[in-house]
Amino acid sequence: MNRQPVAVFDSGLGGLSVVRHLRRLLPHEDIVYFGDTARVPYGIKSQPPVVHFALENARFLQQFDPKLIAVACNTVSALALPEVAEAVGVPVVGVLEPGARAAATLAVRGGAILLLGTEATVSSGAYEAALTRLAPGVRVIGVPCPLFVPLVEEGRVASDPIVAAVAREYLAPLRGQDVRVAILGCTHYPLLRDAISAALGVGVEIVDSGRETSHAIRDALAAADALSDPQHVGSIRCFVSDNPARFGRIGSRFLEEPIDAVELVPPEAYVAAALDAARQELGL
Ligand code: DGL
Repeated sequence: MNRQPVAVFDSGLGGLSVVRHLRRLLPHEDIVYFGDTARVPYGIKSQPPVVHFALENARFLQQFDPKLIAVACNTVSALALPEVAEAVGVPVVGVLEPGARAAATLAVRGGAILLLGTEATVSSGAYEAALTRLAPGVRVIGVPCPLFVPLVEEGRVASDPIVAAVAREYLAPLRGQDVRVAILGCTHYPLLRDAISAALGVGVEIVDSGRETSHAIRDALAAADALSDPQHVGSIRCFVSDNPARFGRIGSRFLEEPIDAVELVPPEAYVAAALDAARQELGL
């Protein structure tokens, strides 16, 4: 048994769609979440700043002595996971591998796998590399859907006619391409799942990377005998780099529970925490 927290970070509030599954699956775990709301979105950035931000986020979370760090951001998982894993001295789980694994299992029935994600995630080719490793010969079609992120953040839901129109615009051309599996490879897309599914038509299985990741985290903790005490009621503590009120208001839709308190950590503070952690690691 291990009462250290599970640390989670994302470019903003989207990672709460992963935490939602984690809270249900592992209700005894304490979670510390960091959302880099001052620097979101990551999905339109190139690799160097994403690596840089991801390392600062992970090092900020190291001060809580976590037993595992979950990278609940598809863009970071696609562009910076090895760098994060190398920089912190604890197990790191990203959202990409669990999502790709679930899709590859479904793909044994044939047909193409559709990857939906940010521009950075799709153009990185990281999902494609994982999928072709897990299911050699599989056809992967990547489609960036950038408008989905602001639509969700604006409070629009799957039944909204504008969401349905945007989903059709992105996805209707794929009908007839023998797509059997679609990966929701962005933290925001699970909230639009029904609209995405309707635009793709019947017979397409949807993989929610966040849900798969919660299972991967449980398996990693169980394998290390590091699950929390079953008598313990897990808590969640949230930190953001900007606008805690907005995070609380919109984030509760992702988390599907109220968010009581959100703590603000301005960039200068978490950059200082990141430097301290790096210095300690180097023994300086
Ligand atoms: N969290 C990001 C992802 O899953 C979406 C938002 C962003 O672009 O930062 O890729």
